[in-house]
Amino acid sequence: MKNVTHIALSPFPHPNPDEATSHSTKASKNDAQVAGYLPEGRAQRGGRSRTNESLREFQNTEPVIAIGNLHSRFGQNVVHDNISLSVAPGEIFALAGGSGCGKSTLLRTILLLQKPVSGSIRVFGREVLGLNDEQALPLRRRFGVMFERGALFGSLTVAENVGMVLREHTRLGKALIAEVAALKIALTGLPPDAGAKYPSELSGGMRKRAALARAIALDPELLFLDEPTAGLDPLSAAGIDELILSLRNALGLTIMLVTHDLDLLWRVADRVAVLGEGHILGVGSMAELSKMEHPIIRNYFYGPRGRAASEQAWKKR
Ligand SMILES: Nc1ncnc2c1ncn2[C@@H]1O[C@H](COP(=O)(O)OP(=O)(O)OP(=O)(O)O)[C@@H](O)[C@H]1O
Ligand SMILES: [Mg+2]
Repeated sequence: MKNVTHIALSPFPHPNPDEATSHSTKASKNDAQVAGYLPEGRAQRGGRSRTNESLREFQNTEPVIAIGNLHSRFGQNVVHDNISLSVAPGEIFALAGGSGCGKSTLLRTILLLQKPVSGSIRVFGREVLGLNDEQALPLRRRFGVMFERGALFGSLTVAENVGMVLREHTRLGKALIAEVAALKIALTGLPPDAGAKYPSELSGGMRKRAALARAIALDPELLFLDEPTAGLDPLSAAGIDELILSLRNALGLTIMLVTHDLDLLWRVADRVAVLGEGHILGVGSMAELSKMEHPIIRNYFYGPRGRAASEQAWKKR
């Protein structure tokens, strides 16, 4: 990729769209190389998240997300029973656990799409529970979200899908929107002609990349990914692992992701919270969790699929 320019988009509309380009900053060639054009499946899946030392370093800073005593339920079904956790800047933090343990509900609650019964959620140092839509808007503009089912509009091309977010949230002109959309698409490693294609014309892995391009359209500081590798073959999933790591490293994102994919957890997560029975059963790096005694966590790691992923991860270290 030549001369990739990273246009730093303000979350707020620029008063004079013509001037907005003067805020552009150039990513170094390395960043561009790291962030772009990682062919799907080139990466081997294995453990390469941060070391404990660098983890300690960035956990000393104020959290980007701080959840305190969160209680959520649907009718009599208690999903979260006084859950507390925090996510540090630049961290890739994962929520794991069996189906129905409340991972997506937790994500939706942080995104203010679901109301908890009680508790506190601070994002970027501000309490978000109780904000109305208008108050939440400036905050939401700092988020990028990729939902469980991708949710690209089938009637729009990939470039139009990415461009739609820019049209809604910025005052950039048409030509600039097309340019920024093309850059975001390139950052996710899709070939240039992918922008003109409809989601139905893409493979599953390419669709995930397109959904990621849309999620990073507004230069979010915080990215939420729900099951980013679900439904992908192992090689495409490995490409997404690489992409998540490279986006975090190149764009300095904080990422919260939800997944069942143990390979993804070993590969990208700095820390993982395992949810179960309404509680957080354990939090730590995958290496730390794999030594914990809780029977549900042990089953998670040492059931047949867990064992294969752990062995694979340790071999690659
Ligand atoms: N809108 C809703 N109305 C009623 N119950 C719900 C709703 N959404 C989720 N639930 C229930 O809350 C619990 C947690 O669901 P959630 O979708 O958060 O699980 P999950 O951990 O994301 O599962 P999976 O891994 O299968 O995606 C489940 O018992 C589910 O049936
Ligand atoms: Mg879910």
